Amino acid sequence: MLSACEKNAYPEDHEQLSEEERIVIRFSHVVGEDTPKGLAARKFAELVKERTNGYVEIQVFPNSFLYKDGEEISALLNGDVQMIAPSTSKVTSLVPEWQVFDLPFAFESFEEVQEYVKGPAGEVLFKKLEQEGMFPLAFWDNGFKQMTNNHSPLHMPADFSGLNFRIMASDLLSEQFELLDADSQVETFDQVFPVLDKEQLNAQENTFSNIVNKNIHSVQDYMTISNHGYLGYLVLINNEFWKNLPDDIQIIMLDTLREVTEWNMKFASEINEENYEELQACRCLEIHELTETEKKQWEDAFIPLYERFEERYGASYIEYLPKYQ
Ligand code: LMR
Repeated sequence: MLSACEKNAYPEDHEQLSEEERIVIRFSHVVGEDTPKGLAARKFAELVKERTNGYVEIQVFPNSFLYKDGEEISALLNGDVQMIAPSTSKVTSLVPEWQVFDLPFAFESFEEVQEYVKGPAGEVLFKKLEQEGMFPLAFWDNGFKQMTNNHSPLHMPADFSGLNFRIMASDLLSEQFELLDADSQVETFDQVFPVLDKEQLNAQENTFSNIVNKNIHSVQDYMTISNHGYLGYLVLINNEFWKNLPDDIQIIMLDTLREVTEWNMKFASEINEENYEELQACRCLEIHELTETEKKQWEDAFIPLYERFEERYGASYIEYLPKYQ
């Protein structure tokens, strides 16, 4: 296979060509530009433009500017945009098996996530996306979710009673809170701040980078560092569109994505670490780090989720989790 560096198929400057003569790829996502996903998308667009001398233009639309959660998958399938990068939870309406990533404490580290994604279960899960018309190009990282609320500190499972959480659209996330005797409501990412601010809901789970980027900490009083759920992204392109791209363009895009993905992995943990430090320094919410004893109580409370998942989708997705290897 030729690499992007060896190829020099686009030596001329294509900037002067019209949109019809160039390849234009619209890439829609829901988070801010200064987040692990926002920055990776921009870096990918810049590098592809440079490497094709402007022949391929990836137009990135951040912040739900074009499409919100729930709209972006249909926009991709209809060809209104060509690329999206939803979290794994958000593809579960089409491929419910991706809910394995919503199982609390399924992964302890990003290395474990990588091992799983590159293993046999990952292969099956990626194939299922392709069968739905979405070709998976890469898997990007945004670290682990923490719990926040504006009611009381969360240490033990019993502390969740009466809270009402904003969740992403995944049945398993709703069942996670049901088991803790808490309510939950699906809201698109652009609505997280407004619904918490207006106190329509009083709790949510997200990564440090999403919390800081959306200013969620300013409307929440308590945060528990639980690292209970993983937030990763599927970089997806419309299948038909992908198949019709020239081979050399596909190679440039895949090589570039490999490089950007490496960068994203390093950067996502750095930015989340920085954002955690910011949250500690701002003293704007009370932070509790889950102890090992408390974590064990949470894990025990979540056992039924693993059992139900296995009943619905078979044992293999769970058996391949690194913690059971
Ligand atoms: C959320 O909706 O909380 C996240 O999935 C947003 C994102 O894409 O990081």
